[in-house]
Amino acid sequence: MKRTVTCNDANESIVGKTVILNGWVHNRRDHGNLIFLDLRDRYGITQVVFNPEISKEAHSVAQSISKEFVVAVKGKVALRPKGTENPKISTGKVEVLVEEVTILNPAKQPLPLEISSKVLANEDVRLAYRYLDLRREDMQRNLILRYKIIKVIRDYFDSLNFIEVETPILTKSTPEGARDYLVPSRVHKGKFFALPQSPQLFKQILMVSGFDRYFQIARCFRDEDLRADRQPEFTQLDIEMSFIDEEDIYSVVEGCLKEIFKKIKGIDIKTPFIRMTYDEAMNRFGSDKPDLRFDLELIDISECFRDSSFSIFKNVLNSGGSIKAIVVPNGSEKFSKSDLNKLMDTARLYGAKGLVTAKVLEDGIDSMIVKHLTKEEIKKAIEKTKAKAGDLIFIVADEWSICCNSLGQVRLQIGKMLNLIRKDEYCFLWVVNFPMFEWSEEEQKINAVHHPFTSPVLEDLQLLDKDPLKAKSRSYDVVLNGVELGGGSIRIHRRDIQNKVFSILGITEEDAKKKFGFLLEAFSYGAPPHGGIALGIDRLVMLLVGADSIRDVIAFPKNKACVSLMDNAPSEVSDDQLKELGVKIIKEK
Ligand code: AMO
Repeated sequence: MKRTVTCNDANESIVGKTVILNGWVHNRRDHGNLIFLDLRDRYGITQVVFNPEISKEAHSVAQSISKEFVVAVKGKVALRPKGTENPKISTGKVEVLVEEVTILNPAKQPLPLEISSKVLANEDVRLAYRYLDLRREDMQRNLILRYKIIKVIRDYFDSLNFIEVETPILTKSTPEGARDYLVPSRVHKGKFFALPQSPQLFKQILMVSGFDRYFQIARCFRDEDLRADRQPEFTQLDIEMSFIDEEDIYSVVEGCLKEIFKKIKGIDIKTPFIRMTYDEAMNRFGSDKPDLRFDLELIDISECFRDSSFSIFKNVLNSGGSIKAIVVPNGSEKFSKSDLNKLMDTARLYGAKGLVTAKVLEDGIDSMIVKHLTKEEIKKAIEKTKAKAGDLIFIVADEWSICCNSLGQVRLQIGKMLNLIRKDEYCFLWVVNFPMFEWSEEEQKINAVHHPFTSPVLEDLQLLDKDPLKAKSRSYDVVLNGVELGGGSIRIHRRDIQNKVFSILGITEEDAKKKFGFLLEAFSYGAPPHGGIALGIDRLVMLLVGADSIRDVIAFPKNKACVSLMDNAPSEVSDDQLKELGVKIIKEK
């Protein structure tokens, strides 16, 4: 019994026709004489009715049918009796009066999870039985939308004369900063492939080969700690272009996002996007990926306390740190003690030694630190922050980056606590000119913020010798609603600058040759000036469907502990396999 219509096709226009439906039993209601099944497929739901007066045999088979059985039914489409219509579904005015039924496959009972629109099972159960979870309407919608978004992307880049080139999955490790996944080589025992953290080096080499407009929907692999917006394998929209500058990248990416939002959501997003330097984003929002859907900007009040004798402020300022504040209008009464404790914990988690609060009064402030400050200092701070009586001020005094980061997180938490975030807005921006380098306390060395091929801004070239940590790069991140959607840079194409950057990073000539000698060699045969970017497709889809985690837009993700619960990967392998690969497992004690 092959289907003649889908479970979304039956309606008043085909009343009286005989149809065959194939699908899963979504629901079953037994009214004694009549048995009702809701039959479901990818397209919708149709109610089918078993009436012994129409077919005794079919009615008797229906008694053994349970939820999620796969069945085929044949019958006539009829209008439902008055008062029993279901306006919520497109087939709700009709039902199919079953003449014949075949059970194509039963489903084991009880089901480990309900196929309902609400998420009723915990995530690990959903992931272990992902095939059932993916039958849920939300998940079907998410994956279909993901496919459609990728189709819009491919059509868009095709229309702009880009070509998609696949790059290898078995590669040499690329210097992207996360840990590599390694694959032992059987043929070359003791040697390993690395799964690509991104196609970075290959796309740059494609520029050397003359493919001046490249893109790829590329799978990337990174062995890093997982979060709601991080998976060990994820998908990037990877782009690289030759003979361009930042403006070309901005306009191609903005055009792509505009097209996606228009075609998928029917929303016209405003372009060009706001642009903000990294320094400005950190200073104003305490984040390099600011959520602009609400205000509460950070205000620098260091100057108000430049001559203060309050030892904490004095020490911070003397050692080059900052004092910053957030003012919550009418905030004095808005936070419970436990809210304030939570905000304090957040500030501490991000490195701040404390989070000072100050209630603004008509004639001063009410705060633990009031006794340490002069009237003049308080007056200056109130003027600077433009705070009014009834407002609540949060203050952090610390190293600049700790000050920004911790208050930035406090800002986000206040935004959620007080419901300040405008949920239906899409706020895009470019954060540009990140620092070239950062100091790693852990490794006691300078690291690249982006990657070693990122070009410094030309005006900062002389800083590479003098004060490399102050040099800014020609890098850019595209941010949406507080999520880093993508990042990239204009690359270095001059060998002298590349060598300088390597030497700052402590990469010796020998190291460079060993790690990415093939790229440098390629560059020596005529490399065009080039640049690119990569956008996280999973994150983009997550934001478009309104999911809380990228796991909800990936068909078969790993759970938080980096396990695929359905197929139980990673798993042990046989001794023979290990032997063949020349790999020995050292058991942890
Ligand atoms: P970057 O490392 O910034 O740049 O990655 C680009 C974008 O990929 C997404 N992303 C992730 N998504 C899910 N899970 C992860 N673990 C994960 N890691 C990154 C983010 C991020 O903005 N080669 C450079 C790009 C370039 O310079 O052209 C790169 O990979 O959305």
